[in-house]
Amino acid sequence: FQPKRLAGKKLLITAGPTFEPIDPVRGLSNRSSGKMGFAIARAAAEAGAEVTLVAGPVHLDTPRGVRRRIDVQTAQQMFDAVLPLAPQSDVFVATAAVADWRPAKVGEQKIKKDGSGRIPSFEMTENPDILATVAALPDRPLCVGFAAESEKLAEHARAKLERKKAALIVGNIGPATFGRDDNALLLVDANGERELPHNDKLSLARELIRDIATRLQ
Ligand code: C5P
Repeated sequence: FQPKRLAGKKLLITAGPTFEPIDPVRGLSNRSSGKMGFAIARAAAEAGAEVTLVAGPVHLDTPRGVRRRIDVQTAQQMFDAVLPLAPQSDVFVATAAVADWRPAKVGEQKIKKDGSGRIPSFEMTENPDILATVAALPDRPLCVGFAAESEKLAEHARAKLERKKAALIVGNIGPATFGRDDNALLLVDANGERELPHNDKLSLARELIRDIATRLQ
């Protein structure tokens, strides 16, 4: 039994990777499976929240109780889906592994190997930062971000907390969390740090939702 700690609250969440096209058949992405974000969406729905899930390309079913799912490919599409919904939300959880950069130009036709040995190179441009943009809105929801780092997790998480002006940054502990069903989390906020020890992603998601509900009070 899950108490309805988020009854009457609207929670907006991004999950999964983004896919940034290079040409009609190729693109850049990352190894995010979307499992953590989908688990949080499920836990929030269990807690009574009205959940809107904005998902990058993933192979996951919509969790039970999630009110609305919007599927997107690119960071820009994710940004465009999130921004109009953010001011009416009580909580925004940015779990998505958004590509920081995208190819500046998308080829209309497939880039061909022409036999000359010429190797293409791509100019990149920066994607909008969805979390930082939402956290800067005058009528912003409670903003929760994620950090996946290969080193110095606490330090990087704290830097992100300040740079993006989020209320909470959740660090993925452990190097190989992508695609797995388990994880451990480090919660970093203005007051300090707290660890949610190793567990399956749904149990961690429920603990995180409990933490978020307390912050809304
Ligand atoms: O800057 P970095 O990608 O390390 O930050 C990770 C956090 O910021 C995650 O919560 C991610 O969902 C969010 N983010 C975003 N838009 C971006 C890049 C990251 O919302 N363009």
